[in-house]
Amino acid sequence: MKHLWLMAGALTLGLNYSTAAEATTKQPRSEPVTPIQPAKVTEPAKVELGKQLFFDPRLSMSGVISCNTCHNLSLGGTDNLKTSVGHKWRPGPVNSPTVFNSSLSIAQFWDGRAANLQEQAAGPIQADVEMAMPHTLAVDVIRSIPGYGSQFKAIYGDEKITLEKITDAIARFEETLVTPNSRFDQWLLGDDQAITVQELQGYQLFKTHGCVACHNGPALGGTSFQKMGIVAPYKSSSPVQGRVTVTGKDVDRFNFKVPTLRNVELTYPYFHDGEAATLAESVAVMGKLQLGRSYSEQEIKDIVAFLHTLTGDRPQIQLPLLPASVDATHRPEPFK
Ligand code: HEC
Ligand code: HEC
Repeated sequence: MKHLWLMAGALTLGLNYSTAAEATTKQPRSEPVTPIQPAKVTEPAKVELGKQLFFDPRLSMSGVISCNTCHNLSLGGTDNLKTSVGHKWRPGPVNSPTVFNSSLSIAQFWDGRAANLQEQAAGPIQADVEMAMPHTLAVDVIRSIPGYGSQFKAIYGDEKITLEKITDAIARFEETLVTPNSRFDQWLLGDDQAITVQELQGYQLFKTHGCVACHNGPALGGTSFQKMGIVAPYKSSSPVQGRVTVTGKDVDRFNFKVPTLRNVELTYPYFHDGEAATLAESVAVMGKLQLGRSYSEQEIKDIVAFLHTLTGDRPQIQLPLLPASVDATHRPEPFK
């Protein structure tokens, strides 16, 4: 009897040991989604300069529009409008994607027409539905500001301010805009308690139904271009055609870069045309058009609950103090 009791004791002890061991050495899970890594800042002065330029409205003709106007870092890195509004209140053709985690994408823009963040950053400065500032004038404005000159000199080693250096600094700043440590990432790293049963159920649907075929990798997107409307066509009044505009190939018509689902609760409205107002609506559309599934209300609730676990730690950004203009600095022309 005594012997048996001892054995039972040892068994209980053994069990206690293994659960204690699991709790202390959490095993990262092997999943089609991977955690976001924190930013590694190797050139802090350049990142700081890029931040100033990101917030500087003097890069726009009106003097009131900065990158942060449409990629508001206090919100989800977007403007939360259906489609963006630019210089002279001109409506842009597409929804503004978030700049958070955009460094993790294979290319930039919905149609991938810019290979990387530096190439991308030149676009909006000049685009007349955005900042409407000719590149030469934008560079002249930055050159005229002594407080910028000294920084460019210290960072790039020579005084000549060019568009390439301006966009390089902005891109290096944008690379720091990652959002690690979401509850889902904590779960991926082995913390069973980080998400609820319902949220896990939502992830299981997301995984087994094939959402992960397109929304995968650290950003749950940004790894490929895919057709919007695989099983049934997507009806949109937007004239935007997607990737075909870049490649000229008809197979790329309505192909879009798969958007990231990181922080997706913050980046409404959804899709390139901003036509889906809520997450529930966009999940229902995805189910129907990409997978041929009509989701029940409960399934949508579960998937949306999962999507809410993807909100990470947004970078705590101190508003930069911008260097002063001088008398010779080109003045804004808001109505030009
Ligand atoms: C008037 C609003 C507006 C302004 C100002 C603006 N953007 Fe954008 N941005 C957009 C829109 C809209 C898109 C999507 C355009 C497209 O895909 O055709 C976009 C796309 C991007 C992307 C690509 C993200 C992705 O996932 O593909 C990045 C990065 C970006 N902008 C950074 C910037 C930077 C840097 C500036 C300042 C130099 C800037 N934007 C200024 C509206 C704006
Ligand atoms: C075949 C590839 C593919 C599959 C499968 C897929 N998606 Fe998508 N998803 C896309 C593309 C492409 C877009 C962008 C479409 C557009 O804007 O026109 C998108 C957009 C979204 C958006 C809107 C994001 C935003 O910021 O605008 C959400 C949310 C989403 N998908 C969730 C899901 C869910 C949930 C599933 C599974 C039920 C799923 N997707 C299945 C390719 C896919």
